[in-house]
Amino acid sequence: MLVLGIESSCDECALALVENGVTLRHQIIASQVKEHAEFNGVVPEIASRTHTRWILPLYRKLLHEAQIEQSEIDAIAVTNRPGLTGSLVVGLSFAKGLAWSLRLPFVGVDHVRGHLYAIQLEQEVGYPYLGVIVSGGHTLIARVDGYDEIAILGATVDDACGECFDKVAKHYGFGYPGGVAIDRLAKEGNPEAFSFPQVSLRKGEHRYDMSYSGLKTAAINQLEQFRTEGYEATGPNIAAAFQKSAIDLIVKRLQRAVDDTGIDRIVLGGGVAANSYLRQAVDGIPGASVYKPSLELCTDNAAMIAGLGYHYLHDGKSDGWDLNVSARVSGFRKAYP
Ligand code: KG4
Ligand code: ZN
Repeated sequence: MLVLGIESSCDECALALVENGVTLRHQIIASQVKEHAEFNGVVPEIASRTHTRWILPLYRKLLHEAQIEQSEIDAIAVTNRPGLTGSLVVGLSFAKGLAWSLRLPFVGVDHVRGHLYAIQLEQEVGYPYLGVIVSGGHTLIARVDGYDEIAILGATVDDACGECFDKVAKHYGFGYPGGVAIDRLAKEGNPEAFSFPQVSLRKGEHRYDMSYSGLKTAAINQLEQFRTEGYEATGPNIAAAFQKSAIDLIVKRLQRAVDDTGIDRIVLGGGVAANSYLRQAVDGIPGASVYKPSLELCTDNAAMIAGLGYHYLHDGKSDGWDLNVSARVSGFRKAYP
């Protein structure tokens, strides 16, 4: 079954063709980074208008580059939650229009579940595994028992990790997108230059939860308070110390999840999973095998949506014309922001 995937939840306008849930025939990921750069962040209105302009030409380009006829597509999978409402509406409306005109079934896919599935397009990872999704919108650790059997173990109680990278970078003028800029700058800095406070959340209920608002405030507003004697407050030092604190927190929670659950397979996903320090640090978790999607499948893409969508369709599940978008996620055992 050849599934067309459509992803427009944030600032990537992405389309992909995936065969039987695992074989990526072709994909296009058009980033709107340039459109939002002068604002140092994604502007929702610009994002949805850009998706509107881009989506049809990109669809034609995808078919042309893949040398696939429209008639070869068997079904459509589209991200319908969570994300920016206006952006999601563009992708969903396009999917519905196409499904109507080609008389194809279509199915709405949860973006976060898509990230948790992305690795399966590159290598088969057996269930269960611990999925860690770290992006501009989400920071969570999940237990994944099947492609749609997901329980959230922990999540951020406030800001997302990637958002924190972006805000710190914006404040210091490190560049946009912030995560990439900090990753690059940190390579020249000393992570010990600032000892930012460790996050402490009540044990038990918050065993795997994370928090980023305190670190963000410390890195932006209270920098001098945490400076280690003898070190300069240079850009690279700020970047390196901030990055270490932000990522070490995730690694610590992951270690705890491995120890508690006995699940030793870890799968990364989300934009911050492209972070070089994170990719290295997770290898230090004793007893765990870590599966890292390529950078293209870590960040937002439509291949993961088409891949996961295939399984729903294969199970006989498709959606009707009344399918709507949702800014938030539902259906997980534990809610997350
Ligand atoms: O998954 P994604 O493409 O979009 C969301 O669903 O949010 O993630 C984007 C986030 C941004 O916050 C960006 O700064 C961050 O991923 N990011 C990184 C790196 N590359 C992208 N953060 C840290 N280090 C990186 N190398
Ligand atoms: Zn994402």
